[in-house]
Amino acid sequence: MNVLIVGSGGREASIGWKINQSPLLDHLYFAPGNAGTSQYGENIPIKAHQIQELAEFAQANQIDLTLVGPEEPLVLGISDLFRQKGLAIWGPDSFCARLEGSKIVAKSFMKKYGIPTAKYQIFNRSEKENLYRYLETADYPLVLKADGLAAGKGVLIPSTKNEAIVAAQTFFEDNLFGEAGNQVVAEEFMSGEEATVFVLTDGENYHILPPAQDHKRIGDGDSGKNTGGMGAYVPAPACTPEILELVRKTIVEPTLTGLKSEGHPYRGVLYVGLMLTPDGPKVVEYNVRFGDPECQAVMLMLSSDLLPVLNEIAHGQLVSGLSFKSGFASVVVASAKGYPDKLTLGDPITLGALPESADQAVFLAGATENENGDLITSGGRVLGTAAFGKTLKDSLDSAYQMMSAIQFNGMHYRKDIGQRGLDALKKSEKV
Ligand code: AMP
Ligand code: GLY
Repeated sequence: MNVLIVGSGGREASIGWKINQSPLLDHLYFAPGNAGTSQYGENIPIKAHQIQELAEFAQANQIDLTLVGPEEPLVLGISDLFRQKGLAIWGPDSFCARLEGSKIVAKSFMKKYGIPTAKYQIFNRSEKENLYRYLETADYPLVLKADGLAAGKGVLIPSTKNEAIVAAQTFFEDNLFGEAGNQVVAEEFMSGEEATVFVLTDGENYHILPPAQDHKRIGDGDSGKNTGGMGAYVPAPACTPEILELVRKTIVEPTLTGLKSEGHPYRGVLYVGLMLTPDGPKVVEYNVRFGDPECQAVMLMLSSDLLPVLNEIAHGQLVSGLSFKSGFASVVVASAKGYPDKLTLGDPITLGALPESADQAVFLAGATENENGDLITSGGRVLGTAAFGKTLKDSLDSAYQMMSAIQFNGMHYRKDIGQRGLDALKKSEKV
């Protein structure tokens, strides 16, 4: 099969790493890919949002299957376009993609289908005084979210009324989130452990992948600013088999049935961001793609071929199973100088010896080659080191050992990835 992977991050590199091991693969392309993806396939200079050009490329190059990494092309309707042209694509249509593209669409969908999530209210910029009035009597902490895509930055959690007023101003007065902030969702604060569940589905049949835990803050001990994700591990012990069964019954099944009944069976991977509250698991958010870096750890866990599963999903006929190694996988992300604020890029990267084991991988993301062919930093999250191990500790040690061989000016990575998982296992005496 000829396969095209759309995107340029560590997520796409890890999917490529896995697909490249499939006996079914003939030729693999990345659009646009990065300095690391050229190890697994051929990079072509088309960006992820150029969906017309991508369709033309797929037609001209006998692409049998296109895999979409990031949300932007999905929200732009890449799957609708490919399907209209008779091209097989793994990724939900633009109707389903609105579950990520609009918090209001996601909240209304969950309300309609009785899916557990935080209570909420919607406020429009045109009636902003209603929001300020609401803040007078709201319970704190409170969660305020821009409706649209805001690169993971559109969520504010004020803990007092005064903080909430300042937060409301950033949406409606300072216009920090542009059109994405024309409507704001005010949501009840949920407390508990967070976990992510990925569902690979053709809209009816599905596989729930081992639950992951991300590390969204830049600093150790969950300090500092929010990022795209600084590390992850799989499976997260906090999401026990009992909780996972609840997630399946109360969240995954009603979500898939709901979308199907709306005439839009979901074909791709659904990301369910969860809060494991004392009242049971509740949805924090849906994303319509794999999380990055969680995907990198998930790829290391898989023992069976992924390509047939993704291909069957693209054709709406998922029948193949998936199997996973028995153990844990972890990923640690190294970020560029200044991330997540003002970045300094162009620093030379020394990778050292790359791993050769099937249980270890370095996935490049924000890394490119300069005109001399030297590897330099080109994005906020520069690379991830991902490893499988029989125990969580083994997998973390292995990921950190790879990281210790890598160097660049201003390099930052968290030293406490997986700590919550280790603590949870220790408590249950499984370590
Ligand atoms: P989101 O972009 O919706 O995933 O929100 C980003 C982060 O904000 C989540 O990962 C949570 O840590 C936090 N968050 C969002 N909604 C809530 C909520 N209702 N209660 C508590 N924390 C939340
Ligand atoms: N790591 C979180 C995300 O991809 O949205």
